[in-house]
Amino acid sequence: MAAISMGKREEMDVLERLISSCRKCPLHMSRRRAVPGEGSLEARVMLVGEAPGEREDEEGRPFVGQAGRLLNEVLSGLGVSRGEVYITNVVKCRPPNNRDPEDAEVEACRPYLEKQIQIVAPRVVVALGRHSARLLLGYGGVRFRGIMQVRGRAYRVRIGGVDVDVVPTIHPAAALYNPRNRPLLVEDLRRALGRRGTDITDFL
Ligand code: URA
Ligand code: SF4
Repeated sequence: MAAISMGKREEMDVLERLISSCRKCPLHMSRRRAVPGEGSLEARVMLVGEAPGEREDEEGRPFVGQAGRLLNEVLSGLGVSRGEVYITNVVKCRPPNNRDPEDAEVEACRPYLEKQIQIVAPRVVVALGRHSARLLLGYGGVRFRGIMQVRGRAYRVRIGGVDVDVVPTIHPAAALYNPRNRPLLVEDLRRALGRRGTDITDFL
């Protein structure tokens, strides 16, 4: 058991160093710090956002700004700590002015996410927002029509040699922007995390 975990940690350390010095796409020119990802390497659930924002770019950690605070609240409301899941993004460097990542950037960065999925081997991968959903569902050949059409369902997909259930949901920033969307995020994460019962939607 310990030997297996140590292997994973070493593999992830190598990957994190590769990402931190990566120059495979133009986003490396404007980033302050790359944001590889963080969390448990034994996680059953991996959360994949879109791209680092300003705070993430400063700290080199995923979801540490406002959207991250909401994500933390939802997770803890469901009885899950950040340390129990693994959190990363589709692209590991911040796009200038938080613009959408371009296809070529997503394509250049994709092998890192595949490797992370291979190392952690989660059962469930939650796609936070449409960019993440489009990419992850693409591995299963699922045609992406829009986040509202796919959210809350589980799609069996093979990524990095690992069979995972991809569960798309809305991006936490969208739930911040429109509080009426928050219950959707809560319900989808509840499903992805295999939690039931606790009704936390009241105080979100
Ligand atoms: N939004 C994202 O998609 N990812 C982050 O890490 C932070 C905000
Ligand atoms: Fe490399 Fe990904 Fe950063 Fe582009 S976004 S420079 S591919 S780590």
